[in-house]
Amino acid sequence: MTKIIIGNQKMYMDKEDVLSFVNDIKSYDKGSVPVILCPTFVYLDYYKDVCKVGAQNVSINDNGSYTGEVSASQLSSLGINYCIVGHSERRNFQKETDDEINKKIKKLLEKDIVPILCVGEKKEERDNNLTEIIIKKELEQDLKDITRDNIDKIIIAYEPIWAIGTGLTPTNSEIDETITFIKNYLKTIYNDVNVTVLYGGSVSEKNVDELNSIASVDGYLIGGASTKFASLSYIIDSQK
Ligand code: PGA
Repeated sequence: MTKIIIGNQKMYMDKEDVLSFVNDIKSYDKGSVPVILCPTFVYLDYYKDVCKVGAQNVSINDNGSYTGEVSASQLSSLGINYCIVGHSERRNFQKETDDEINKKIKKLLEKDIVPILCVGEKKEERDNNLTEIIIKKELEQDLKDITRDNIDKIIIAYEPIWAIGTGLTPTNSEIDETITFIKNYLKTIYNDVNVTVLYGGSVSEKNVDELNSIASVDGYLIGGASTKFASLSYIIDSQK
């Protein structure tokens, strides 16, 4: 089954790298594989004509004196249709709370921007069998007051924090178990809904063939490997 490929390019790449990357993507045939790339704010416009584009963050506010922030309506005015929320780097470095993540999801939905909500456990939480408890708590708080009408407009990314940027990944059966848990949890809350759930954390051209066999995984959220055209195109080609 073709999986959705989302690239979280974080704060990697300067303008020269971006221009050469965009040029490579422009002349590459993605076939029918859905590809969404999320560069840093300042480069969003460069990607618009070559693929679907997402932002990496959004403000909890609509408009006003919020220096350095970018609103959902500003993203929408640029034709941006996706936005990552609740990434563990923002939860950790910017101390983003579940309440703020919930507000961001609501602001995005108001502007018809698809939130890509990241959830996942720390290593010691997995070691202590707390993965499902942690993820359930995040989902409960981040999706507070989100209705049945809106839930399938959200993409969930399961990203074990210890797998991000480390080259480590859970086993295929651990990934399958956690993704199935997320899907079943949402089905019980939202009356049998089917939500798209991605895996993220050290996905690369080296492990994608093995990960592709996990049927419950609807796609990947890819960090480092999404900034290298050779790696990204290998991953996309593996879906054709
Ligand atoms: P990684 O990052 O692929 O570099 O591990 C994934 C992410 O943070 O979304």
